[in-house]
Amino acid sequence: GEPTVGSRLLHSFYQFFPCSLSPSLPGPLSLPLLGNMLELAHDHLPSHLTSLARRYGNIYRLKCGNTTMVVLNSGDIIREALVKKWSDFAGRPHSYTGDVVSGGGRSISLGDYSEEWRAHRRLAHNALQRCTQQSLHGVIQKQALQLRQVLLDYNGRAADLSGDFTVAASNVITTLAFGKEYEKSSAELQRLHGCLNEIVSLWGSPWISALDSFPLLRKLPNPPFSRLLKEVARRDEIIRTHLDEYRVGVNTVDMVHSQVLTDTHVHMATVDLLIGGTETTAAWLSWTVAFLLHRPEVQYRVYDELCSVLDGRYPQYSDRHRLPVLCAVISEVLRLRPVAPLAVPHRAIRDSSIAGYFIPKNTVIIPNLFGAHHDPAVWTDPYAFKPERFLEGGGASTRALLPFGGGARLCLGEAVAKMELFLFTAYLLSDFQFVPAESRASLPDLTGVASVVLKAKAYTVIARPRPGP
Ligand code: HEM
Repeated sequence: GEPTVGSRLLHSFYQFFPCSLSPSLPGPLSLPLLGNMLELAHDHLPSHLTSLARRYGNIYRLKCGNTTMVVLNSGDIIREALVKKWSDFAGRPHSYTGDVVSGGGRSISLGDYSEEWRAHRRLAHNALQRCTQQSLHGVIQKQALQLRQVLLDYNGRAADLSGDFTVAASNVITTLAFGKEYEKSSAELQRLHGCLNEIVSLWGSPWISALDSFPLLRKLPNPPFSRLLKEVARRDEIIRTHLDEYRVGVNTVDMVHSQVLTDTHVHMATVDLLIGGTETTAAWLSWTVAFLLHRPEVQYRVYDELCSVLDGRYPQYSDRHRLPVLCAVISEVLRLRPVAPLAVPHRAIRDSSIAGYFIPKNTVIIPNLFGAHHDPAVWTDPYAFKPERFLEGGGASTRALLPFGGGARLCLGEAVAKMELFLFTAYLLSDFQFVPAESRASLPDLTGVASVVLKAKAYTVIARPRPGP
C-alpha cells in the first residue's frame, strides 16, 4: 500500500519540528546492553506485559538490543494501529531465525508485507473461503462425531483430552489441505505434530532467539539450532510427500496455477494452516472444558439451552443465533484466554503514530490481546469468568473482543476457527457432562502456560455420556 496522506503529513511534521514536541513513550528503565530483555523473560509474558500497562499506561516501549518494541494494551489503541492505520503497521520484523523456519520469509504468517506476500495471502484466503462455503461444515461434523467416539471409549475413566482435541483440530486442517485424516495413534500424525511442536518450542527458546540479537553467536556451534534446522528439514519432507500424494486440497488446486507463486508458496501456506490452525483450536477447547469444570451451573445452562432449542438433534452452524448461552461461553473463553495472546509481532513499515506518540519506521509492535481483554476500563470484573456479560443486559459486546487481531494481518483462519469452536463445543456439550477427575480440589489450574499459544496446564477430566434424546 501507498503511504496515507496522514502518514505523509506526520512525516513532514516530524521533519520540521524537533521530536521533543512528541511526548516520548513511557517504559521501564532500560539497562545497558540488555535493555529490557529481562522483562521479556517472564514465564507468563502476556500477564506480565499487562501488569506493566497498569504502571506505564496502555502504550509503552521496551528496548531489546537495537530494537524498540512498543506494547499496545487496549482495544482502542490496538485497533488504531492494526485496523485504522493498517498500511503503516502490516509488516513483520525480519529475523535470522524467522527466515530459517519460514522458507526465507515465504510464509504468510512471518512474511513481511510486500506485493508477493499480498498475492500469497489473497490466494490462500480465497481457497480457504471456498472450502468454508463448500465442505468445512461436514468436515468438522465428521471430526466432532469421531471425537465423541474417542471420549465414549474412555468408558468414564478420567483422561487428559488435550491430545484428542489436537487430533480433531489437525484433521480438519489436513482434510482441507490434503484430503487426509489420521487416527490418534497414527505414526504419521505423531511425526507431523512432533515435528511442528518441536519447531515452535525450539524457535521460542532463548538459545535460538539469542541468534537474532547477537549475530556473532551464529559462528559458534549451537546444538538447539542444529536441531531446529533438522526439524525444519523433516517438516518440509513430510509436507512435500503429502502434497505430492494428495494434490486435491485447497492449496494446490488454487495456487499452483497462479503465476506469481511457486511451489514454495503452496508448501509454506500448508505449514501456516497446520501451525496456525491446530494448537490454537485445541488449546481453546481445553480452556473451555477447564472453565466449565469450575462452573458446573454454566455447563448445565448450555446443555439445557441445547436440549430445548435443538430437541435432540445435532446443531448446524446456522443455529448459533438461537443458542445465545453457548455463544456467550465461546466469547468469554476467547476473552479470558485469547489463545494467541500477543498475536504475532508487527513492524512499522514507515514512520507513523499511535495514540499521539511518534512511532519511527521499523519499530516492532506487540498487540497485547490478553491485556486488551482484561482492561478494567472496558470490562467489569475483568478477571472473572462471566459468560452472562455477553447475554442481553450483561453490558458487554463481542465487538470489544480482538482474539483474531484485525486489519491486514487478521487471522487467516478466523472463519474456520469460529465454525470449529461452535460445532465442536455444541457437539461435546450435547453428548457429555464434564466432571472433575476426583474432587473439586483437583480442578484444573486456570493460569496456563504461555508461549506463542496460551495453553492450559495438563489436567484430567471425566466425560460422562448424557442420556440420549
Ligand atoms: C494469525 C488467532 C485459529 C491461521 C493469527 C493471529 C491471531 C490469531 C491473534 C495474529 C494476528 C496478527 O498478527 O495481528 C487465532 C485464534 C484461533 C486461530 C484465537 C482459534 C481459536 C486459526 C486457524 C487457522 C489460522 C484455524 C487456519 C485455518 C492463521 C494464519 C495467521 C494467523 C495463517 C497469519 C496471518 C498473517 O500473518 O497474515 N491467528 N487463530 N488461525 N492465523 Fe489464527
